[in-house]
Amino acid sequence: TDRYAVFGNPIAHSKSPQIHARFAAQTGQALIYTAEHIEEKDFEAAVERFLQGHGKGLNITVPFKERAWALAQWRSERAELAGAVNTLYRLDDGRIAGDNTDGIGLVRDLAENNGVTLNGARVLVLGAGGAVRGVLQPLLAAGVAAILVANRTVARAETLAELFADDGRVQACGFDQIPAEAFDLIINGTSASLQGELPPIAAASVGPNTACYDMMYGAEPTPFCRWAMELGAAQVIDGLGMLVEQAAESFRIWRGVQPDTAPVMQALRTALK
Ligand code: ATR
Repeated sequence: TDRYAVFGNPIAHSKSPQIHARFAAQTGQALIYTAEHIEEKDFEAAVERFLQGHGKGLNITVPFKERAWALAQWRSERAELAGAVNTLYRLDDGRIAGDNTDGIGLVRDLAENNGVTLNGARVLVLGAGGAVRGVLQPLLAAGVAAILVANRTVARAETLAELFADDGRVQACGFDQIPAEAFDLIINGTSASLQGELPPIAAASVGPNTACYDMMYGAEPTPFCRWAMELGAAQVIDGLGMLVEQAAESFRIWRGVQPDTAPVMQALRTALK
């Protein structure tokens, strides 16, 4: 049987095995997908070992996405720009291929699942870590008009914006320099929710037509989602759909079939409660 896994550290709470098991059942594909806790020093050797046997593909999560990027012998353009890889598999010639499905996962969840118009949208992105870097190119490709990257550490936001300087649509600033006007879309890509915190942004960024998206999710609305709801945002969406959509794109790359994400999202949402 073809084997797949997600490598990370920590990994115990990964939902990827149940997501891929549901995709496999739904599409009639025979495969085994497990979550593996990998020690920091073992990552590269563990990937080699896995992809030598029955292992057909890997998802890579924290803290190994940059190391997966480095070990891939071929990378998709979106992985190249993300500087991180969350999907590995072997090409026919034996080389290890690296892709990044996080950004397309976000774009699909926004555009297809939630009807958010990206074409021409003015977007405020909070945070400038790996999670944000991974989604900028797919947002630009979806036709957004402008992206303002705001971060606590301004220099990190500036470094990200410089990567996309040729495109001309990405600007950087600190939280206190965000212009006092409503954006079409605000995406929280900080990990502040993990500490129960909220990036300090002004209420003026949210208007009655603003969609707000948190890349994080939980049983309860995240601090960012609560904040957006209180300000009367048009839509408030958490990152559960992004998680399922990035998995679906990995599944499609590996198996050549597109799973139906809606029932899987529904099942995960129910299980969270
Ligand atoms: P990831 O790969 O998940 O993006 P990261 O590279 O550690 O992780 O980035 C975390 C992001 O969340 C950063 O933008 C970080 O801001 P700094 O660059 O200033 O560190 C942001 N962040 C984390 N905790 C935060 C908080 N309490 N308030 C605001 N921003 C926070």
